[in-house]
Amino acid sequence: MTNKLLSKHVLFRHRDVENIGDIKIYVANDGYKAMERALKQLKPLDITNEVKAAGLRGRGGAGFPAGVKWGFIPQNISPRYIVVNGDESEPGTFKDREIMESNPHQFIEGVILCAYAVGAETAYIYGRGEFKSTFRILQQAVDEAYRQGFLGQNILGTNFSLNIYLHLGAGAYVCGEETALLNSLEGVMGQPRSRPPFPAVAGLYAKPTVINNVETLTNVPPIILNGASWYRQFGTEKSPGTKIFSLSGRVNKPGNYELPLGLPIRYLIEECGGGVIEGKAVKGILPSGASSSIIGADKLDVTMDYEAMAAAGTMLGSASFIILDETINAVWAAEKNIKFFKHESCGKCSPCREGTHWLKAVYHKLQDGRGTMEDVAMLTNIIDQMDGNCFCLLGEFVVPGVRTSLALFKAEYEALAK
Ligand SMILES: Cc1cc2nc3c(=O)[nH]c(=O)nc-3n(C[C@H](O)[C@H](O)[C@H](O)COP(=O)(O)O)c2cc1C
Repeated sequence: MTNKLLSKHVLFRHRDVENIGDIKIYVANDGYKAMERALKQLKPLDITNEVKAAGLRGRGGAGFPAGVKWGFIPQNISPRYIVVNGDESEPGTFKDREIMESNPHQFIEGVILCAYAVGAETAYIYGRGEFKSTFRILQQAVDEAYRQGFLGQNILGTNFSLNIYLHLGAGAYVCGEETALLNSLEGVMGQPRSRPPFPAVAGLYAKPTVINNVETLTNVPPIILNGASWYRQFGTEKSPGTKIFSLSGRVNKPGNYELPLGLPIRYLIEECGGGVIEGKAVKGILPSGASSSIIGADKLDVTMDYEAMAAAGTMLGSASFIILDETINAVWAAEKNIKFFKHESCGKCSPCREGTHWLKAVYHKLQDGRGTMEDVAMLTNIIDQMDGNCFCLLGEFVVPGVRTSLALFKAEYEALAK
């Protein structure tokens, strides 16, 4: 397995092509070729099998194999739906937006291939409320694809038809959680549903539904065009392919970087990000935005793949690496995340609703100079009560950040407490 550095082979393969958002330019650069081959030469199951063989894992956070998910869709129930998750509200994640704005047709082609694979004739692309300008660009691209005969009835003269609808939410982090997203899309309050049933069986309007992230589906055209073994030349055995890493925080060059999975964190910070601002020392790394367990500078050589990050006590998630340096106070940083979670908690379950409320209050007291060691102990008490008891993962995501912040930076908490 070879790792090719700084790759532009899969997701950003057209990054240097001017006006790639124009359908003519995209077509001139192998665009919609995978779709044509699929519709004219391949059976739907061939697409699912190729994506399975490529080992493509969901890029929305959980890393579930995309082809396996498509294989769960019952073929004897109609209609079947595709729902694309473009909510992208995790602090530090900004990759889906770049994909949709800069190369919308590769993404749309991925949606078409997914729909063909599972026999869906309707796809919804759900975006966070703030993505108005992004969705204007995407809508133009969808309209172009209709005019070109790549969407609508009997695409390329085949029996396959697909309509794509864009839908903006009201701007809520919880609507990135797939069942809350489905509720929001159906026009009811964006709060999570209990599972089972899983969306593959009873999703949108209680019909079989594939929910995939924008980046996940954008991988599919190059996989179908070049084959699973080509895709597997990037990344590791269990985490094949490339991934967009959104790098932010105290680095010189924040941005989106497409890299093969399996490179060390140090590579992302130093080679891509140009190192830490003013050459300061790394203090902590949040590899998956606010939802992460924080890891310290001793983990800079851990490789960025699903397995190694889990073994290091954190997760790759959506790969939004926020870098804290020695100038950042850990309690201040933790409080910022807690304010976010308190604001975004949907209120459906008490552990999350009450837990985030009390965490925010205790952090505020500490920051205000009124905290005591009992308050520091109270933080652990609160997260212990949330841990494993929240209705959805939003509340569960709060726990590891606070727990690891307390463990790694205990002295900074104690310094604030009387
Ligand atoms: C609170 C919360 C927020 C989430 N936000 C997003 C998001 O913005 N985008 C996304 O693709 N997945 C998000 N997810 C994960 C989705 O529930 C789901 O796993 C994902 O869309 C599946 O697509 P994938 O298999 O292609 O990754 C979130 C999950 C939770 C619990």
